[in-house]
Amino acid sequence: MKLILASNNAHKAREFREILEPMGIELVTQGEAGCNFEVDETGETFEANAFLKAEAAMKATGEAAVSDDSGLEVDALGGAPGVHSARYTGRHEDSDADRRALLMKNLAGVEQRAARFVSAICCVFPNGDVINARGTCEGRIAEYEKGENGFGYDCMFIPEGEGRTMAELSAEEKNAISHRGSALREFARLLKEYNNADK
Ligand code: IMP
Repeated sequence: MKLILASNNAHKAREFREILEPMGIELVTQGEAGCNFEVDETGETFEANAFLKAEAAMKATGEAAVSDDSGLEVDALGGAPGVHSARYTGRHEDSDADRRALLMKNLAGVEQRAARFVSAICCVFPNGDVINARGTCEGRIAEYEKGENGFGYDCMFIPEGEGRTMAELSAEEKNAISHRGSALREFARLLKEYNNADK
């Protein structure tokens, strides 16, 4: 089955492909489909923003589209940066490194470092049907950045049961435990059910 991937994030696209393509789900990014746009993420939840992105890509292409809205929730910061993870500093032009620096600063001297990554996957079909799946990965914020793999906040997040940051894990190791890996495996299960129910 072919789905439009409603994302301009190359890192997310790689993880989607690594996880879903072995299950027979072909992904074409909205960019590859000739649609170049950014959606205003005005929702207050990961699910609401994931729906906005998938719906926009479905409308632009006329084909079923799947999206991910994700982020990092830090308990000591009341769940921030949360849905604002991609724009935590408030400045569009800032980099992942700037956002990590702000998070480290806000956690300076804080001992309670529990955190989790969250991924909400949403697939919208041209007939209006919607599939939602959510995955989380519990862990804690490291004292300092370590590792070169992954993206975003990976080098400052230590998954539960691990001594290494997410950025020190291989792609296979990350996908096996990550929020996106869990959400996408659940999504693939629901999509199979949906397709079978159709017949
Ligand atoms: P959005 O889903 O496009 O709003 O962006 C989510 C943001 O959360 C990304 O830009 C990253 O900063 C962060 N994020 C989401 N997933 C991951 C991950 O797997 N590793 C590290 N950072 C992530």
